[in-house]
Amino acid sequence: MKTKKVTIHTLESMKTRGEKITMLTAYDATFAQLLDESQIDLLLVGDSLGMVVQGHETTLPVTLEDIIYHCRAVARGTQRAHIVGDMPFMSYQSSVHEAMANAGRLIKEGGAHSVKLEGGAQHAELVSQLVSAGIPVMGHIGLTPQSVHTMGGFKVQGRGEGEAERLLQDALTLQEAGAYSIVLEGIPSVIAKTISETLHIPTIGIGAGPDCDGQVLVIYDLLGMNDSFKPRFVRRYEHLATRIRTAVDAYAADVKNGAFPSEQESFFMDKAQRPKSQSASVSAIALAGGCGPEPLSELSQASDAAATPESSMYSTVHKPKS
Ligand code: KIV
Repeated sequence: MKTKKVTIHTLESMKTRGEKITMLTAYDATFAQLLDESQIDLLLVGDSLGMVVQGHETTLPVTLEDIIYHCRAVARGTQRAHIVGDMPFMSYQSSVHEAMANAGRLIKEGGAHSVKLEGGAQHAELVSQLVSAGIPVMGHIGLTPQSVHTMGGFKVQGRGEGEAERLLQDALTLQEAGAYSIVLEGIPSVIAKTISETLHIPTIGIGAGPDCDGQVLVIYDLLGMNDSFKPRFVRRYEHLATRIRTAVDAYAADVKNGAFPSEQESFFMDKAQRPKSQSASVSAIALAGGCGPEPLSELSQASDAAATPESSMYSTVHKPKS
């Protein structure tokens, strides 16, 4: 397995070699570990967490504290991938000074390796200052969800007169300011192709066609966690919503009918301490002068052979080799 850490320089040389870059969102340590093991290059702690984790209609309510909290969890689960912390709405728009401090917190407290911010040429000064301070910046142009009310909804951008040229200029200005990469979201493929061919830094597309240098999706969308959300640009590689419901229904049925937990999934006392009848309760034994209730972790397994009184409650049960 490849263990070399992905840096912004790795991404630049991937573009030079024509090797596609993979990016997915991650919001917690468990997913981060899985995606890291799958050799995903970039993990984005996106403000999309406001919609898929927190249940909001837009990304606007997400706070800097929210992103820091989720960045820290992702950082704990990641060894190899490059972690991008998303700058949430109004954490960078009001002043360069405030934006610098907030970006610094994503790196220092969140453990992110770089930050992402939405918008083009208007943020050139900020991007350049962040880069000078040692904070790599990923740009994000096209459909920028934090401007949902200005755009009048989550609409494909770049179709109007002069818009393609403006997007290209934004991309060039961000590159000039020092951005190491740019997300192109919700724009016609032909514009994304032109931008990707013009820039020397990598572009990462979402709803921007196949010619970007890399692709990003929200992990919940890729896994089909929400069966009422299937926009055109998403490809579902799983239908976890259905599978999770099936698994949870089976668990609920087993609890209701007494099939869960089984003996194999339960703990027993040491043979010497066992009551004559296995059905006698612990409190009955205690009253009779036997052992009192003990922490579960100190109770042994059902089988005497497998009894490991010192083992942790969370020890994995290994099946003996046949
Ligand atoms: O917040 C997010 O997840 C994003 C991606 C969709 C690019 O910005």
